[in-house]
Amino acid sequence: MKRIALFTSGGDAPGMNAHIRAVERVGEKRGVEVVGIIGGYSGMIAGHFELLDRIRTANIIDRGGTILKTSRCEDFLSVEGRVRAIEQLRSNGIEGVIACGGDGTFHGAHALWTEHGMPIVGTPGTIDNDLSGTDFTIGYDTAINTAAQAIDKIRDTADSHGRLFFIEVMGRHAGFIAMDVGIACGAEYIAVPETITDIDELYRRIVSQGRERRTVVIVGEGDELGGAMGISKAIEERYGIPSKVSILGHIQRGGSPTVRDRVLASRLGAAAVDALLGGQTDVMIGEVAGSVRMVPLEDTWTTRKPVPGYLKELSTILI
Ligand code: F6P
Repeated sequence: MKRIALFTSGGDAPGMNAHIRAVERVGEKRGVEVVGIIGGYSGMIAGHFELLDRIRTANIIDRGGTILKTSRCEDFLSVEGRVRAIEQLRSNGIEGVIACGGDGTFHGAHALWTEHGMPIVGTPGTIDNDLSGTDFTIGYDTAINTAAQAIDKIRDTADSHGRLFFIEVMGRHAGFIAMDVGIACGAEYIAVPETITDIDELYRRIVSQGRERRTVVIVGEGDELGGAMGISKAIEERYGIPSKVSILGHIQRGGSPTVRDRVLASRLGAAAVDALLGGQTDVMIGEVAGSVRMVPLEDTWTTRKPVPGYLKELSTILI
């Protein structure tokens, strides 16, 4: 291969810029041109391409967001959209692609390979950490640290006023963020989509804390009772306890990446270039138990990654 492309897609994640930098640098060392696709799959369909070089990727390793921009692209879901995308790739001399994103991104990448034979390698870029085949995704470490800082601050208020707080964190269908920050911030209860939230049990926990004391409950946004708002409402309706709701939202996606995210993003970027040039396709490059691993893209969405059992155990014994 003489020319490969890279794009970031889906929700942005801190560390994507470190990843872009690594792909460009390793590509250059291997004698390959690296083209950045601007705006994810939308940019691929529209032909928004830009040749990357050392200067373009300098001074970005510490920046949040993605210099390549991103999108959630409806058009790529259609066969016609993907035909337009492949025509753009081919007419720009692209021989292989690196796709950094989550499972939606990988569905699209898999289709590009199976329908059009375009070699494509995925890298896990999402704050949710919900991809099977890697212990951690790019952006997760930064997101949990950002969330933990915010929760620590809210706890000061909860403590001072003796209030009950429901704090909602991101993680569309997965409770990784909620579990980790809940434990790290000493939450009295952690509600995640993977388990049924029992309002009566939650009430007992709140009461056991003493109503005059601060109580912080961390809620994963995908919790089946409707996130933090839903649980707050349920507790008020059944037990008459008022509460405050704080939804941390997109603050968790931004900011300068942690050292862990920068290193993971760099390592997976370097490995992705070598995998693509070595003839790999339709795989995601991840890191498992400290080693770089490859799994079929399909496995990342057909196999559900469980929240580690030790986190669940800690969440019940440390309260
Ligand atoms: O996938 C990352 C994520 O931040 C999820 O945690 C969240 O559910 C979703 O993206 C929000 O997406 P958007 O910013 O497009 O609303």
